[in-house]
Amino acid sequence: METEGTRLQKVLAQAGVASRRRAEELIREGKVYVNGIKVEALGVKVGPTDEIRVEGRMIQGRQAWHYYLLNKPCGVMTTAQDPQGRTTVLQLLGALPVRVYPVGRLDYDTSGLLLLTNDGELAHRLAHPRYGVDKTYRVWVEHAIPPARLKILAHGIELEDGKTAPAKVRVIRPTPFLLEITIHEGKNRQVRRMFAAIGHPVLRLERIRYGPLVLEGDLKAGAFRLLTKAEIKALRQLVGLAGHDDKA
Ligand code: URA
Repeated sequence: METEGTRLQKVLAQAGVASRRRAEELIREGKVYVNGIKVEALGVKVGPTDEIRVEGRMIQGRQAWHYYLLNKPCGVMTTAQDPQGRTTVLQLLGALPVRVYPVGRLDYDTSGLLLLTNDGELAHRLAHPRYGVDKTYRVWVEHAIPPARLKILAHGIELEDGKTAPAKVRVIRPTPFLLEITIHEGKNRQVRRMFAAIGHPVLRLERIRYGPLVLEGDLKAGAFRLLTKAEIKALRQLVGLAGHDDKA
């Protein structure tokens, strides 16, 4: 059962079980079960993943949550559909048992870790600036960046839509110049704009971490895998949601 969601009596009324008033009576009479547990009082809220039964009759089945980690290649859109007919991340996933959505966005020319799920509450929270999930990118630029300019990136740099928050910057290799940057914001094309602002346009950009998720080297571009139970739990905990196995 969810703490956020829609009131049970409203869901029952919308499902055509009874009027809202009669639905409240059914709840008070102990005839409504959510996820196998008798509802004892009014005020319970439910979401699309909760199983609801009234007098034994299934009103709403429990929808399973699915989580996929895709290694997005360059040249693919992070949208459900593209009016220009370009390949989308959903096409890479192919036929799935449920409809999932990308969490956040990677540019057409950015590769790397992309999470897709039908766990709407998780997706909503992960995208919310309040939770500030860390995202790490590998950035290739043509010339070595002097340390003083890297410091500007790390401290925060003025972009047209405001100053960026402090970032972690780590040089990996001097030639060709490769570094990692960790940010917790999600401004549009943020990393590319940050590097352009210090005069070092990005040649190639790849996301390698998203919160507790890591892109492993053996997941080829265009390939995807299911998240592990531990990863799902860690992600949900990160944004204040209980793991699916935890009893409320
Ligand atoms: N920052 C960018 O500039 N592009 C992305 O795709 C992700 C972060």
